[in-house]
Amino acid sequence: DMGGHDTYMHKEISEQADAVDRVLRGRIDEKFSTVHLGGLNLDAREARGIRRVKILGCGTSYHAGLIGASLIEGLARIPADSEPASEFRYRNPVVDPDTLYIAVSQSGETYDVLAAVQELKRKGARVLGVVNVVGSAIAREADGGVYVHAGPEVCVVSTKCFTNTVVAFALLALHLGRIRDLSVADGKRIIEGLRKLPAQIQEILEGEEDIKKLAAEYADAKSMMFIGRVRGYPVALEASLKLKEISYIHAEAYPASELKHGPLALIEPAMPTVAIVPSDSLLEKNRAAMEEIKARSGRILAVAHQEQEKADHTIIVPKNEDELDPILMGIPLQLLAYHTALALGRDIDKPRNLAKSVTVE
Ligand code: M6R
Repeated sequence: DMGGHDTYMHKEISEQADAVDRVLRGRIDEKFSTVHLGGLNLDAREARGIRRVKILGCGTSYHAGLIGASLIEGLARIPADSEPASEFRYRNPVVDPDTLYIAVSQSGETYDVLAAVQELKRKGARVLGVVNVVGSAIAREADGGVYVHAGPEVCVVSTKCFTNTVVAFALLALHLGRIRDLSVADGKRIIEGLRKLPAQIQEILEGEEDIKKLAAEYADAKSMMFIGRVRGYPVALEASLKLKEISYIHAEAYPASELKHGPLALIEPAMPTVAIVPSDSLLEKNRAAMEEIKARSGRILAVAHQEQEKADHTIIVPKNEDELDPILMGIPLQLLAYHTALALGRDIDKPRNLAKSVTVE
């Protein structure tokens, strides 16, 4: 049942404020400025012993893991990274007892992720799951974890589950941080930020008509560049994947700083750039990158917290805490991909060549 929407994708994008509300519900502990995660199976002593975090997922879940890694590193100060599960399992990785492994999956059935979990467990590692589908293979195989509570996601391309997965990682990072060195004040700051998310998401969704007009402006592109820096880079990766999957427009995502090391050669009027430009300590750096693009006559659509004069168009999103900004900045770009695909007459819920869950090797 699409509940009045024309596609599942549109329905699922529209459900995100409620979905985020669900992943937060019952988990926040105001008294100690932390969160409780029932199924984690990780006591405080074990949490303090973690030396590294390695996150594994595929596609959108891998991208959510990239933001998750930066949340864990930022809030819990544990070195963390995310890697495609398929790469990990084929490179005979060193499995380290002091590393916490986290498998991320919407379906909980993706074969590459499941195989990585099984290999890790065979080697004695501790593996948590950040999974949407309750009781799925990866959820059962993991030692514990955090359910994402996005609700059923039908569209082949993941939207609300991506957002909820990142919020689930914020909860995990806050939990680990408060067991380790995150202050009460910072815990409070993040909790307040988390509580603001549903209303801010709703505010972004209300701007859909404007985003639809922008999509019409850029739908003629043969190819698009997505750039971001540090926290903005995974947002760029995910937005470029969404555009590719449903519009079939070729898209590249690069760290803004890498432009001058090669991809700047591609910039011309026919290759517009979507720039992720949060108002944080990197704002000036991101403006400089936009200037480089303008100097090559590139068109720019910025996603930012304030109007960007270097850009041809700016989608303004509400500001949250720096750490949580990536959650919000991805949402207008889901709508951009959606309306671009719609303008091009694509089969949005069932893009060619793709399946909802990839249960084969
Ligand atoms: O169910 P999973 O999260 O494990 O699926 C992983 C990927 O196959 C999935 O995210 C894929 O990239 C989607 N089509 C993204 O929109």
